[in-house]
Amino acid sequence: MPSLRVLLSSGQIQARVLDMAAAIDRDYSGGPLYLIGILKGACIFLADLARALKTPVRIEFIGIASYGLGKSSSGEVRLTKDLDVSIEGYDVILVEDIVDSGITLSYLAQLMAQRKPRSVRIATLLDRPERRQRSVEVHYVGFKIPDAFVVGYGLDYSEDYRNLKDVCVLEE
Ligand code: IMP
Ligand code: MG
Repeated sequence: MPSLRVLLSSGQIQARVLDMAAAIDRDYSGGPLYLIGILKGACIFLADLARALKTPVRIEFIGIASYGLGKSSSGEVRLTKDLDVSIEGYDVILVEDIVDSGITLSYLAQLMAQRKPRSVRIATLLDRPERRQRSVEVHYVGFKIPDAFVVGYGLDYSEDYRNLKDVCVLEE
């Protein structure tokens, strides 16, 4: 049976999300700022981040699949849902749950740049730099984490555990 060990408690996460929102508020003023959540893992982080921001935001989602149903990346990136709107001329923040190999975000950052936004930055709750294969510039990082598979607060293992309040290490 797999077991769960709390890595980041809900309290730690909430406090850090407020810090990240304050940093974003300092960098942008006026808005509208497009927050583009990467489905499905980022949805919970995005919901908390958006509510912590004072900057007026618009919320969009993009669907990307780079993982199969297991724990390791397929190395393949697939667009499963595109934006519904034009982001031309707008400030954009791509909101991600975790940056791992960097394959997803390097692909997406390129794709977004083709849409001629005013600016594009990346905000991620978690960063696991040890496993990076593509370099990506991440402007807002919640927590750097060690090389262990995590679930909760939006992150899944084969679609389970997304609704946990804490981020937990999944141990076999
Ligand atoms: P990358 O393209 O390798 O950076 O993969 C990023 C995506 O892989 C994230 O958006 C997650 O959906 C998924 N992922 C990477 N590591 C984990 C993990 O530890 N738990 C759950 N999902 C993960
Ligand atoms: Mg994801």
